Amino acid sequence: MRRYGRDPADWLDLSTGINPDGYPVPPLPADCWQRLPQDDDGLAEIAARAYGSPHALPVAGSQAAIRTLPALLPPGRVGIAALGYSEYAPAFAAAGHRVVPLDEVDFSDPALADGLDHLVVVNPNNPTGRIVPRERLLGWHAALAPRGGTLLVDEAFADAWVTDEGGGSLAADSDRAGLIVLRSLGKFYGLAGVRCGFVLAQPALLQALAERLGHWTVSGPARAVARLALRDTDWQAATRARLRVASARLDALLRRHGLAPVTLPLFAWVPHADAERMHQALAHAGVWTRLFDAPVASLASREAAGGRPGDFAGGRPGDSSGDSTAESPQRYHRQYRQAPEPAPRPAARSRGLLAAAGRCPRHQSSALTCPCCRSCPADVGRTPPRVPPRLQPRVLPRVLPPTVLPPSHALPRR
Ligand SMILES: Cc1ncc(COP(=O)(O)O)c(C=O)c1O
Repeated sequence: MRRYGRDPADWLDLSTGINPDGYPVPPLPADCWQRLPQDDDGLAEIAARAYGSPHALPVAGSQAAIRTLPALLPPGRVGIAALGYSEYAPAFAAAGHRVVPLDEVDFSDPALADGLDHLVVVNPNNPTGRIVPRERLLGWHAALAPRGGTLLVDEAFADAWVTDEGGGSLAADSDRAGLIVLRSLGKFYGLAGVRCGFVLAQPALLQALAERLGHWTVSGPARAVARLALRDTDWQAATRARLRVASARLDALLRRHGLAPVTLPLFAWVPHADAERMHQALAHAGVWTRLFDAPVASLASREAAGGRPGDFAGGRPGDSSGDSTAESPQRYHRQYRQAPEPAPRPAARSRGLLAAAGRCPRHQSSALTCPCCRSCPADVGRTPPRVPPRLQPRVLPRVLPPTVLPPSHALPRR
C-alpha cells in the first residue's frame, strides 16, 4: 500500500475477510475494566451454547491457540494447506513437527490422513474458498485419532455459512479425542481487535492449553463483548442475511466483468491469469486487494474436489499494511523445508483447473514474475507481451470482501 503513496484513509481496503459492519459494541460495565478477568463469568458456557459444542475455552484470539497447541501434540507429520493461513506452518515447525504442504486437490482425497500424524483444515479455507464436507473431515479424524493423531479444524470463517449449510461445522463433535475446532470473533463479528477466540475440544486438552496460556489471557472488556455478541442471535441472523445479499452483489459485479469468482459471505476469490495486473490497476485506483501466486496444479475445481456447486469458496484475511507481494507456495516450501517438496502432480490430477500454469525454463521462476515472460509492474495498463501457452501466468487468486464494493465500481477490463 505504501508504494502507491496514497493516504491510508483514502484506500478502499478489500484485502481482509473481516466483516466491515462488525458487532456494535455498547458501553461496557465499569467493573470489566477495573477487575481482573473472571474465568467463571459464563463466557465458556455461552460460547459452547453458541457454537453447539460440549466445551469451549476462551483464548486471546484463535491465533493464541494456533501458536500454543502444536507443543501439546506429539511431534509428527502435519499436513497443512500450502495456500491458506500462513501461521500454521511456522507454529507447527517451531514445535518440532514436520510440515507437509498440501495442494488444494489433496483435500478431495478421502485417504489424505493416511500418511500423516496430524492434519490442519481451515474450513472454509481462505483464500481458496474450499469447503470440506463434514463426512470427509470425520473420515480423516477416524484415520488419525486411533494413532494418537489430531485433526485441527479452523472454523474462523464458518459463522456466516454453518447455519445455512445445515451443520457443516464439527463443533458438536469436538468432544472426541483427537479433534480440535477453533472459532474466532474476528471475522463474522468483525471484532479482530478484541482478540478473542475459542478452542473446542476435550476438557483434558482444554485444561492443558489453559495452563500453558496462563491466567487472564482474555481481557475483561473482551470477555464482556464476547458474551454480548455470542448471545445476540438477532444481530447474527441479520448479519448473515446482510452478508448474503452483499456477497451476491459482489459476485454479480465480478461476473459482469467477465471474472469467475468463488464467493463466500466474507470474501471472494478471483483466480485469474492477469490477477497481478488487475491488482496493480485497482491499487492505482485506490482499491486494495490481496494478491496470491498459486500454481494451477495445486488447485482443484469444485467437481474435482467432490463438492456441490456453490460448495467451493475460500481465502485469508489480509495484512493491509504490507506491499504488494504475491504469496507463493514455493516461498512456503523454501521456508519450511523439513518436508520434501511434493513432486509435480501428473496432468491427470489437474483436470478442471482454473487456468494454465507455467514456469520460465530459462530462469526457473514463475512466468508471472520472470522479466522475460511478463510486463514490468510499471507498465500497468499496457498490453502484456504475448506469452507462449506453456508459460501462461499462474492463477492468482485474490481476496475481496463483499460488503464495501460499490455496485458501480468498474474493474479494469483485460
Ligand atoms: C484462518 C484463520 N484462522 C485464525 C485466524 C486468527 O484469528 P483470531 O486470532 O483473530 O481469532 C485468522 C486470522 O486472520 C485466520 O485467517
